[in-house]
Amino acid sequence: MHFVAGNWKMNLDRKSALALVSALRERAGQRTDLEIAVFPPFVYLDEVARSLAGSRIQLGGQNCCDEEKGAFTGEVSAAMLRDVGAGWVLLGHSERRHLYGESDALIQAKVQRALSSGLRVMLCVGETLGEREAKRTEAVIGAQLKAGLQGVKAADLDRMAVAYEPVWAIGTGVNATTAQASEAHAYLRGVLSGLYTPAQARGMRILYGGSVKAANAAELMRAPDVDGCLVGGASLEASSFLGIIDGAPRL
Ligand code: PGA
Repeated sequence: MHFVAGNWKMNLDRKSALALVSALRERAGQRTDLEIAVFPPFVYLDEVARSLAGSRIQLGGQNCCDEEKGAFTGEVSAAMLRDVGAGWVLLGHSERRHLYGESDALIQAKVQRALSSGLRVMLCVGETLGEREAKRTEAVIGAQLKAGLQGVKAADLDRMAVAYEPVWAIGTGVNATTAQASEAHAYLRGVLSGLYTPAQARGMRILYGGSVKAANAAELMRAPDVDGCLVGGASLEASSFLGIIDGAPRL
C-alpha cells in the first residue's frame, strides 16, 4: 500500500493546524487503500491526535531524543510521543543532519530508542548536490541507511519505513526525476536485500521526498520502487496535500 506523509516542519499555528487536519479527516480520513500520516510540530501533537481520533490518518513526531528520560533540557522523548498519541517518528531528516549536526551514530541511537518505545520510524536519507555531482549518491545514502538500521532486527522491520530525500530537492522546487528517484530507491532496496532478505526488502516502504507537489506526485509514485512520498511545503495546505493523496496509486 502506498504511503503519503506530510512533514509540517516548523510551520503553521494552532488554528491553521487544526483547520488543515479537519479538512484531511473529512476528505481522506477513512481511506483504506492508502496510508496517510502527518508530522506536526511537537506542541500541536496532542490536539492534532484528538482531532484525528476515529480517522485512519496516522500521526508522528518530527524528531525524538535518543535518551529515555532525564536531564535533557529542550528534548522530547519517544515515550512522550507515544503518550500523546503519535505512532511514528521521523528520524535523520536532512535538516536535522545538516542544520543541527546529527550524526549517523546519534540517528542510530534514536532509531533504537524509538523502536524500543513502540514507535514506528521513518528513516530519512539523502545526498547533497555536491555528493551527487561527485557521483557519491549511492555511497552516501547506502551508508546512512546501513548506519540507521544497525541493530534493527528483522522482526522490527514492519515498524520501519525509509524516505529518500535528496537534499538538493528539498524545498527547492527541483524534484528528482522519476528516473533519478527510481534509481536511488532500487539501490536502497538492494542494500536492504543484503541486510535482510529480498522478501523483507520488498516489504519495506521507500518514500520519495523533495519538492513533491500535486503536479508531480502521481508520476513519481508510479515509478518503480517508489512506495509513496514525504511532502513538506505542499502538505501545509489541504488542497495541495489532498491533490497529492488523490494522485497516489490505489491498491
Ligand atoms: P519539500 O520538503 O516537500 O518542501 O521539498 C520535503 C521534506 O523535507 O520532507
